[in-house]
Amino acid sequence: MSPLVPRLALLFPLLLLAQAQSPLPLRDAAASRNLLFGAAADADEFGINPSRLLEPAYASTLGTQFNMLEPENAMKWAAIHPTQTTYNFEPGDQLVSFAQAHGMKVRGHNLCWDVYNPDWLINGSFSPTALSQIFQDHIATVVSHYNGQIVAWDVVNEAVSDSASGIGTDLKDSIWYNQPGIGQTGTGYIEQAFRWARAADPSALLFYNDYSIEQDSPKFEAVFNMAKDFVSRGVPINGIGFQMHIDAGGSYPDLTQLASNIDRLAALGLQVHITEMDAKIPAAQWTDPAALAAQATTYSSILTTCLQHPTCTAFQTWGFTDKYSWIPGATNNQYGAALPFDANYAPKPAASALLAALQSVPPQLLAANIVNAATYAGGAVAPGELVTLFGANFGPASLTGLQLDTPTHVATNLGGVEVLFDGVPASVIYSSAAQTSVIVPYEVAGATSTTVVYRANGIASPSISLPVVAGVPGLFSQNASGKGPGSVLNFDASTSAFTLNTSANPAPKGSTVVIYGTGAGLTQPAAVDGQLAPGVARQQLSVTATIAGLNAAVLYAGAAPGEVSGVTQFNVVVPATSPSGDQELIVTVGGISSPSGLTLSVE
Ligand code: XIL
Repeated sequence: MSPLVPRLALLFPLLLLAQAQSPLPLRDAAASRNLLFGAAADADEFGINPSRLLEPAYASTLGTQFNMLEPENAMKWAAIHPTQTTYNFEPGDQLVSFAQAHGMKVRGHNLCWDVYNPDWLINGSFSPTALSQIFQDHIATVVSHYNGQIVAWDVVNEAVSDSASGIGTDLKDSIWYNQPGIGQTGTGYIEQAFRWARAADPSALLFYNDYSIEQDSPKFEAVFNMAKDFVSRGVPINGIGFQMHIDAGGSYPDLTQLASNIDRLAALGLQVHITEMDAKIPAAQWTDPAALAAQATTYSSILTTCLQHPTCTAFQTWGFTDKYSWIPGATNNQYGAALPFDANYAPKPAASALLAALQSVPPQLLAANIVNAATYAGGAVAPGELVTLFGANFGPASLTGLQLDTPTHVATNLGGVEVLFDGVPASVIYSSAAQTSVIVPYEVAGATSTTVVYRANGIASPSISLPVVAGVPGLFSQNASGKGPGSVLNFDASTSAFTLNTSANPAPKGSTVVIYGTGAGLTQPAAVDGQLAPGVARQQLSVTATIAGLNAAVLYAGAAPGEVSGVTQFNVVVPATSPSGDQELIVTVGGISSPSGLTLSVE
C-alpha cells in the first residue's frame, strides 16, 4: 500500500483550512454596492520609495481587497515638488500604474495643505503674487500630469481651524492663507485652488478634506458654510472628505450626527467620501479580543452609515495593514493596531465586519426618489407607469439595459436588481448604481397605496408606501430631461412615413403627430405586466390634448405596438389654428394633465 494515501488524506483538511483563510473578497462586495472601497498606500514615509509594492503580501492584499488606492504621501507637495523647478512623479506614477493594473481607481491627495510643504516653499520669502503663481503652476502641473486618471482629488486639506466658530469660516494660518497668503481673503485661496484644479482636469471629482467634521461641531458648520457658499457661487466642488481618524470602540462619532452631516451636504448636491479611516487601539490591547471586536463594530458602524446614504460614495482606510500605519508614529507608540489587516496581512475581526456590512446592509429607498420616468414628477404612481428610482446605490456599476426573459417579456431581475410593488416584481427597463427604471405592475390598479421594496442581490430595502392613482401622465422628451422638445413623430399621410419632430422638421397644421408618454393607466384589452404590446389597446381613462393651449383631437391613445406595455402612444391632430414654432404640448388623462414645459414644433 502506498504511504502516500494517508498523507494525502491528512493534507486535504489542511488545504481546506488554507482556503478558508484566503483573502476576503472585500472589493467584490464593495463593487456590487457601487462603493469605492479604498486604502491609502505608499511609497515610504516621504513618499519617495514605493518599495512596499514589491512586498508580495502588501501588493496582493492591496490589489485583491480594494478597488481604489490613495497615495499616502507620494502626491503631497514635499514629495512631488521637491525643488522649485523639479517634480518627482515617479512614486505617484508607480502607485497609479499599480492601481490601473489591478482595476483600481485612484484618489489624489492633496494639492494644498498647511504642512508637509517643501523647505524651498516655506523658506522662499515669496511675495503673495509669486506664491499665487507657484500655487497655480503646481496645481496645473500635478493635476494635468494625472489628468483622467484620478477619480477624486483632495484639492485642499485641513484648511479650517480647530477653533472655528462655525459662524464664518475660520481658517488655519498657513503659507497659502496669511503667511503671507496668495493675495486672497477668506476662503478665496481655497476657491482659487478648486478653480485651477477643475481647469486642469474636468473629469476628476474635487473634494475638500478634513478631520473632526464627522459629527456636530462648529468646525463642521464652518466647512458646511464654505461648501454652501461655493455651491451657490458655482465654485467647482463635488464633495467633502471626512477623514475619520478615530478610536476603536468609542462612542465617537455619533452616528445620527454623522448621518445628518451627510444628509446636509447631500442637500447641497455634494458627495461624502470617508477618506482616511483608522480606529486606533491603546498599546496594551493590540491583541485583546474584546478590543478587536470593539474595533470591528466601529468600522462596520461607519461603513453601514455610509452605505445607508447614496451620496456617501467612497469608504477608505488610512493604510490597510498594521505593519504600516501612521498611528504609532503619530501617538508616540501609545496607540496602534488601527487597521483591518494585522501586521502579517491576516484579516482582523474588523475586515470580517466590513465584509458583513457590505453584504448585508439594506439599500435605502426614499419615496421622494421615485418619479415618473418621462417627467421626473414624483408623488403617486399609476398602474403601468414607467417610473425611475434614484439613489438606491445598489445596482450594477454600469448602466444595464432591459433584458427579455421570453421573446416578448421584459425581465424583472436585471443585474440582481428587483423592485416589488405589493410583492409583484416589476419589469426593469434599465438599472445602474444610481438609477433604476421599472414599470409599475398593473396589479396596483384600484388600490389607494402600494408597498414598494427594492432588492439588490437578494438584500431587500425597508418597504415604503406610495399613493396609487388611476393615471398620472407624463410625456417623454427627446433629451430625457422631461422638458423641451417631446418624443414626437410627424406622420406624413401621403407617404405613410414617420419622422422625428424637430424645429427643422415641424409638423404641418392639421397633420397627425404621434406622441409617446407613460402613466396613462389601464387599457382595454388589458395589458400584461412587462409584455411587449401585441397590438391596439386603448386607454380606459378619457384622454384629451392641447397644443399651444388649443384643443387637439386625440385619434388614438393606447398601447404602442411593439413597445413594452406601459408606454402610451397618443395620436393627436395639430390644430389648424395653431401658431407656428415650438408650442406647448399637454395631454390630460382622467382629468390629470402632463406637466408643462414639453413642446412640439409646428410648421
Ligand atoms: C500622514 C501620513 O500617514 C504619514 O505617513 C505622514 O508622515 C504624515 O501624513 N491627515 C491627512 C494625511 O490628510 O495626509 C495624513 O497622512 C494623516 C492625517
